[in-house]
Amino acid sequence: MKPLNVAVIGAGNISPVHIRSYLNNPETDLVALCDIDPETLSRRGKEYGVGRLFSDYNEMLREMPEIDAVSVCTWNSAHAGAAIAALEAGKHVLCEKPMALNAEEARTMQAAAEKNNRVLQIGFVRRFGRDAATARRFSEEFGEIYYARAVCVRRNGNPGGWFGDKSRSGGGPLIDLGVHFIDLVRYLMGNVKPVSVYGATFRKLGDRRHIRTGRVYSAASVSKDDVCDVEDFATALIRFENGAVLDLQVGFTLNLCQDETKVELFGTKGGADLTNGFKLYTEQNGYLTNVSIAADTSFDWDIAFQREVDAFVDAIRGRAEVRASAEDGVEIMRILDAVYRSAETGHEVIL
Ligand SMILES: NC(=O)c1ccc[n+]([C@@H]2O[C@H](COP(=O)([O-])OP(=O)(O)OC[C@H]3O[C@@H](n4cnc5c(N)ncnc54)[C@H](O)[C@@H]3O)[C@@H](O)[C@H]2O)c1
Repeated sequence: MKPLNVAVIGAGNISPVHIRSYLNNPETDLVALCDIDPETLSRRGKEYGVGRLFSDYNEMLREMPEIDAVSVCTWNSAHAGAAIAALEAGKHVLCEKPMALNAEEARTMQAAAEKNNRVLQIGFVRRFGRDAATARRFSEEFGEIYYARAVCVRRNGNPGGWFGDKSRSGGGPLIDLGVHFIDLVRYLMGNVKPVSVYGATFRKLGDRRHIRTGRVYSAASVSKDDVCDVEDFATALIRFENGAVLDLQVGFTLNLCQDETKVELFGTKGGADLTNGFKLYTEQNGYLTNVSIAADTSFDWDIAFQREVDAFVDAIRGRAEVRASAEDGVEIMRILDAVYRSAETGHEVIL
């Protein structure tokens, strides 16, 4: 079978994992790269020996009709424009998370995919982790999941650059980090629909650029002129149609001792903990028992991205359903919009 010709739009920090995954997949050829920043574009082009480089995705789509599929790896405000242009040109699209700046944009992307009958997969990479795969295999052991909690908070981890600029990011840790955890929990509960949201966001600490130590995260494009007008912490209670509630805390920066990441789901028969690989807390033969797997089930970025890209190829070839669909992307954007609306009004938002 002829390999698929693939291009990557946005050649910044996340692009190498897409590029490497395409290079490793025997059914794809990486044929072009696009970035509005000439320095980033030529550096990445040289690094991976990519033949055709473009600073404008419309020009790339016009000049290279042989492209079959693209990854959209730009900052968030360019996702909708790039994805829709590619879909309208008849390309399949793997679009990084969050799908867009808001649900309205996301719905327009979904409509473009449907109209052109093309695959639109959203980069919910946590769905492809070994921890999520193991949790799915053990799902019978949880019983009815009625509560989940997800925490991803950093002490001093505002990435700076476009991440802090609302016009390019759409928001702070909620849209950047929260999106992964809301999606993962929703996926493990069977892609359930959200019904209501209560949220609060805080803009208290800013990007703390005056702190010299302990800054772990930094974007490629940090400069002294960066704006920071996004929330630095967000918390939300998200209720789903099955009655389950997700309790979420996400932060770029918070006065806590050390960074914390945790994902747990609690059911009537057992609790799943995906914090460092999969663990099951349950009861057996009259005892409380802790079940751990005698293999590494922790989340590994390279493995998960490879599986994400392989699944994209499977969906294009018609061998499998899209595992992280446009519909999933829209549902997550509806939740994020509702958290921001609830934070603004101080009231619960009914979806
Ligand atoms: N799945 C994950 O876990 C994960 C991890 C990191 C980033 N991301 C997502 O990937 C995307 C990129 O993040 P990043 O960390 O690589 O940022 P980055 O700033 O390093 O790279 C983004 C690149 O997009 C380019 N760009 C912006 N607008 C463009 C346009 N119209 N056309 C072409 N290029 C354009 C910029 O010049 C920049 O080089 C974001 O949406 C982010 O949320 C996902």
